[in-house]
Amino acid sequence: MRVLELSHATKRYGAFVAVEDVSFTVEKGQILSLLGPSGCGKTTTLRLISGFEDANEGAVLFSGVDMKGRRPYERNVGLLFQDYALFPHMTVAENVSYGLRRRNFDKGKIPDRVAEMLALVKLKGFDDRRPNQLSGGQQQRVALARALATNPEVVLLDEPLSALDAKLRHELRFELKAILSAVNATTIVVTHDQEEAMSLGDSVIVMSAGKIMQQGAPTEIYADPKTRFVAEFIGRSNWFTGELRNSTNGVAELKAAGGIRMFVRMPESSPNLGAFDVCVRPERIRIGADIQSSGDAPMNQMRGTIRDVAHLGADLHLLVEIPGGQLLTVTEKYIGQSFERAGQEVSITFFPQDCIVVPSGS
Ligand SMILES: Nc1ncnc2c1ncn2[C@@H]1O[C@H](COP(=O)(O)OP(=O)(O)OP(=O)(O)O)[C@@H](O)[C@H]1O
Ligand SMILES: [Mg+2]
Repeated sequence: MRVLELSHATKRYGAFVAVEDVSFTVEKGQILSLLGPSGCGKTTTLRLISGFEDANEGAVLFSGVDMKGRRPYERNVGLLFQDYALFPHMTVAENVSYGLRRRNFDKGKIPDRVAEMLALVKLKGFDDRRPNQLSGGQQQRVALARALATNPEVVLLDEPLSALDAKLRHELRFELKAILSAVNATTIVVTHDQEEAMSLGDSVIVMSAGKIMQQGAPTEIYADPKTRFVAEFIGRSNWFTGELRNSTNGVAELKAAGGIRMFVRMPESSPNLGAFDVCVRPERIRIGADIQSSGDAPMNQMRGTIRDVAHLGADLHLLVEIPGGQLLTVTEKYIGQSFERAGQEVSITFFPQDCIVVPSGS
């Protein structure tokens, strides 16, 4: 069931377009991640949905009903703001019940509902504390309980984990997902952290300068970015730039700078040959001490020299210089030993289907 729909929504501040022709839908119980650099219009999009701003053009629909003219308190939205400010003068219980009291929820049932929400976010017994008596992670949970207490039709979370340190942020990410799933919340979560967007979202939207650049499942956005912007925003990438030619059976040849020739997967959407950028993900490049035969499929092979080896816990990050002087980032799983040393000559190989072709400069 389609709970939320944005249809061609545009928001201008004077001549500045903060959100431009944005359309998407969210189904019941789904989590949509809105991802993009600072200032790209993520919070503004949430403000259009919650009713704090009106779109200049386009519509916001809740379960098919146009929300035009409805004030924020007339929309059944649970909100967690970017700084998740709790009311400092209120106790935890008062914070959580705030929306219930505003919405004339049956007074007699409020204590039960508060207890239920605090159990959900694992803060049983914290009712009488004030925000300044809680850790950052606990405050974040109270803010989440407050957002979910009214059983909202749509839950909007603006950078819900951004105020937390890296470790806590990582732990709470999975808890947040479990809590949202437990109440089957229809959610939009805004973040500028690509890992967070991909691990939380059933679907991810990447925005830039007010516009949607691409929407898809996390794996799809990572494996099949349509532009250089999206490829660079989602994960690490190595780039080759050149002319595509001789396309046969979905594989083309790229003549790149530094005399490099490589085979790449032809994008279905742009059959024209010409100038393109090609992305190869670091984990898709294999390193061997010797050149290996590639069988019958065309395989990309080149000589390289290892310039740096960094052990990052479970991963090994290598910098490899290839002919022409370009440095490639290569990642491997570290399984207790590695043969790679700086200065070593190696062969590197990668498949044409792991070469993602996007329009030049996109
Ligand atoms: N009330 C306003 N008046 C004028 N410009 C605004 C207003 N609100 C937002 N903007 C502008 O609209 C653009 C989008 O802002 P928005 O807050 O949506 O960005 P964001 O993607 O949430 O960024 P961040 O990741 O930094 O929170 C910014 O350039 C911002 O300066
Ligand atoms: Mg914002």
